Amino acid sequence: MTLPSKVKIVEVGPRDGLQNEKETISADAKVALVNRLTDAGFVNIEAASFVSPKWVPQMATSAEVMAGIRRKPGVIYSVLTPNMKGFEAALAAQADEVVIFGAASEAFSQKNINCSIAESIERFRDVAQAAKQHNIRLRGSISCSFGCPYQGEVPVADVVRVAQRLHAAGCYEVSLGDTIGVGTPAKARAMLRAVAAEVPMDALAVHFHDTYGQALANILACLEEGVRVVDSAVSGTGGCPYAKGATGNVASEDVVYMLHGMGMHTGVDLDLLVATGAWLAAQLHKETASRVTRARTAA
Ligand code: HMG
Ligand code: MG
Repeated sequence: MTLPSKVKIVEVGPRDGLQNEKETISADAKVALVNRLTDAGFVNIEAASFVSPKWVPQMATSAEVMAGIRRKPGVIYSVLTPNMKGFEAALAAQADEVVIFGAASEAFSQKNINCSIAESIERFRDVAQAAKQHNIRLRGSISCSFGCPYQGEVPVADVVRVAQRLHAAGCYEVSLGDTIGVGTPAKARAMLRAVAAEVPMDALAVHFHDTYGQALANILACLEEGVRVVDSAVSGTGGCPYAKGATGNVASEDVVYMLHGMGMHTGVDLDLLVATGAWLAAQLHKETASRVTRARTAA
């Protein structure tokens, strides 16, 4: 299959990236991060998360962050909402989009959101209905689509079933997440093909972590297979608290560099993105995980 001329990147750094960073980041720094990503040209930014602060302390300042960001017309600022309490907070924060999330693995669902997959889908239904009623975009995200830290292999049929349910619940887009970064290109392609047989390809996105160094190869395989939306996080931030050794999300800088290098358009300014990645790494007092940012900022 031919590659697309245009790819949408969903920048998940401020939420999925930062939620797993050990260093506490101030609300002001998070606001600055979202503003920089807006300036870099992203059209969809996962900016915050209205979940229990006991579970994810880093996201406790989400209301402050949403109130502080500069919103560019046309850019979608989305937030994660596990339940109606989260949805009410998202509404008050004037989020453009809410993200509901489920696992393809039963064990992970229990650890991550303290309920079964079936129960989580029940909770999502309320959020989905409320989003529709309030005219807020609804996105879905699936964890452990390629493997689970507890049960190991995740059958493709389980991913297909959760994707179908999220799509049927009203998600305009469902993101297939390799939360622990174990997928390989042939597996990614086969999984995407299986899901796309039941959910339209233009309603799918892919979300890779780079634990085993496969993320860019997986993305390319999925683009060849027909997907047009890719999630990534500036500076490769993130991880998975439940999976030993799991590294961050694929770095946005590396994705943008690859796509531009292959003639695909993203609307993102790579120079501004690299500057943002370097700035964020300094805030976190760690070396950036982005190879491109390392190369571009080497002394
Ligand atoms: P629970 O303990 O089962 O729920 O947590 P609960 O209803 O019994 O509530 C417990 C406490 O949390 C109560 O407070 C609630 O008020 C409060 P207390 O009475 O103890 O003081 N609470 C809330 N507070 C703020 N906002 C809310 C909210 N809901 C309840 N929305 C719950 C259930 C879902 C809340 C909890 O398990 C939770 O917050 N989990 C979040 C886990 C999470 O955010 N994980 C990361 C997201 S998934 C992910 O990152 C993967 C993904 O990015 C894909 C990938 O990377 O591959 C999607
Ligand atoms: Mg992730």
